[in-house]
Formats: sequence, structure tokens, C-alpha cells
Amino acid sequence: MNRRRLGNTTLEVSQLSFGCAALGSRTAKCESKAAVARALELGINFFDTAPFYGQGESEKILGEVFAGRREQVIIATKIGLYPSAVLRLASKVKPLVRSALVALPGVGRKLVQRSVQGFMRSSNQVKFDPQSIVTSVEASLKRLRTDHIDLLLLHVTPPREEGPQVIEQLRKLQSQGKIRYYGASSHSDDDVRFWLGSDGGNIAALQIMLNLLEVPAIDLSVSLAAQSGVGLIAREPFARGRLLPPAADGKLGFVGHEYDARFEAFARERGRTVPQIALQFLAGATGVETILAGMSTQRHLEENVKVLSLPPLSAAELTQLRDHALR
Ligand SMILES: NC(=O)c1ccc[n+]([C@@H]2O[C@H](COP(=O)([O-])OP(=O)(O)OC[C@H]3O[C@@H](n4cnc5c(N)ncnc54)[C@H](OP(=O)(O)O)[C@@H]3O)[C@@H](O)[C@H]2O)c1
Repeated sequence: MNRRRLGNTTLEVSQLSFGCAALGSRTAKCESKAAVARALELGINFFDTAPFYGQGESEKILGEVFAGRREQVIIATKIGLYPSAVLRLASKVKPLVRSALVALPGVGRKLVQRSVQGFMRSSNQVKFDPQSIVTSVEASLKRLRTDHIDLLLLHVTPPREEGPQVIEQLRKLQSQGKIRYYGASSHSDDDVRFWLGSDGGNIAALQIMLNLLEVPAIDLSVSLAAQSGVGLIAREPFARGRLLPPAADGKLGFVGHEYDARFEAFARERGRTVPQIALQFLAGATGVETILAGMSTQRHLEENVKVLSLPPLSAAELTQLRDHALR
């Protein structure tokens, strides 16, 4: 698997990176551990987790799998977003809700899905005060069984006025050797401009939702990142399910997002699937250093690694896809 340097850091990350959001929650512990171990075997060395994922279970799984081989991997984890007590309780009944939803007819299912999702989002806790940052990092180090975090990301954007105080705390952690680099996960073009413009500054990497359906966002972030030397991590390559053909078994993956079938003919003509084309498109986007995908099923993991070793899309094909996406 190809490796690239993440912006101006010394981190050499695999072109495909492993998103750990489903570990220990949507994906059972045993299956999660097997997928992480297999990813490492296949040459993936960059893993993105958070205290929020599986309420700490995702970090624990990485800690267990990488015990004794920490130096082989680059770990990003996050601060700032935590599940509330209500959410912790709600997540216990989530599997039951999912199975009940599969049985509901289309419109009813979407309505219930959206309300559940809205409730989950509004129940999150955002904390960026200095003590919460320190406590969160110490807990992550313990769960990850390590003495340093390679890249610490802000899971959400703090209020602009808190920015300088947060950065000061991150610098302290860096000088103590607890984190090597810090960066941010961004959620809008405004965030990208803030972090990559004169206001944000000083960050090593930005994690952004960049995919075939986000061509303008790719253009904006690639041009700003190139000016500032910030590394770009393209997360959610399958656009929250919009680039994933519906599962044959009706299993629910992403909530409330319709599949966008526009790229099917293009993929079929090349003997590929839409998710494969989605990855190849990002692999051809200059400036994107790593593609961060969730892939806890071994079949998906192996398929995604394989597709990045195939001949890349030509410049003409990339232009054709861009035009198609912008239509
Ligand atoms: N605010 C933030 O910081 C933030 C927000 C969102 C995401 N993230 C990070 O980005 C990562 C990726 O995001 P995501 O997992 O939400 O979205 P994603 O990578 O776009 O989609 C993951 C989904 O795609 C499926 N999949 C993977 N490869 C496939 C293939 N070849 N064919 C068909 N389906 C395939 C996976 O199934 P299986 O799992 O069953 O294999 C999973 O359901 C997260 O894990 C997390 O690390 C961060």
C-alpha cells in the first residue's frame, strides 16, 4: 500500500486509512479486532478513532490489537465530543431499534430514522475547557495503551472565541510529548476556511468529508491546504451511504440518505462498483493524502485495498466523473 507524508508532518500514512467509528458498537468486538488486525496485515497503518466511538470501546480495541506493535501504526484520536448519559443509555437499545426499523415500511421508516438521528445528535456533549481536554487525552492514552497520540483532532469545531485557549492547551500537550501533532475535523466550508486561513493556523492536518459528491469542497480544501502545508484526510468516501448501493438483505447502514445511482453506468463500463469508483476518484485527487473509510467487513476491507492497487483512473476519466458529479 502506498504511503504519503501527511502535510508538513513526519507522519507517513497509508493511502487508505481505517475509520474506527463502528468498532465496538455497530460492529461486534471480535469482528472489530479481526478487521483491525487484517487492515494492518494489508498495509494500512493509519487508524482514526475517538472517545465518542463505542463510548471508548473503539480506542480500547485498537489498544488491544496494537499491544506490542505500537510503533507500526499511526493513531489519530479526538477531543471535544462525548456521549451524554442519555445517549449512553439510548445506545444500549440501538440494536433493537435498528431491527424494528427494518420491518417498517419506507416512509414511516424514514420518519422514525430521522427523529432518532436528530435525538442522538442533540444529546451529544461538546466540551473544550482545558481540564476536559487533559482528562480526555489521559483517558484515551490509557484505553489505547500508549504514551503518545500521533494526531489529536478536534472532533467538532469549538466556538471561535475558545479557539486560542484550545490551541494553547494542545501546544502544552505537545510540549509534554503526549501528542505529536494536532488538527481538526471540519464540518463546513466555513470551518475549512477558518482552520486553513489566517485565523486557524498552526494545525497539522484537517479531516474533511470529501468524496465524489463533494467536488467543490475538494477544490476549496486542496487549494487552501496546499498554501498552508496542512495534511488532508478525506473522510466518508462513500458520502454517508449515498455512494453505496442498497444492501440486498435490507440491512440498515446509513440513516436517511438516498443512494445516488448516477455513477452506475460509468462503474459498470469499467467492471467496477460505485464504491470502487468512489475510492479511485479520491485516489486521483491531488492533495488528498489519505482516504479514511469505515470498512469493518473483511470483504469490504480487502476489496478497498485491492482497488487502490489497480491501474488508476485516467485524467480524462477523472474529468468525466467531476463533470458528472457537478451536473
Ligand atoms: N466528525 C468526525 O470527525 C467524523 C465524522 C464521520 C466520520 N469520521 C471518520 O471517518 C470514518 C469513515 O466514515 P464512515 O464510516 O461514517 O463513512 P464511509 O467510510 O463513507 O462508509 C462506511 C460504510 O461503507 C461500507 N463499505 C466500505 N467499503 C465498502 C465497499 N467496498 N462496498 C460497499 N460498502 C462498503 C462500510 O461497511 P462495513 O463497515 O460493513 O464494511 C460502512 O457501512 C469513520 O469511521 C470515522 O473514523 C469522522
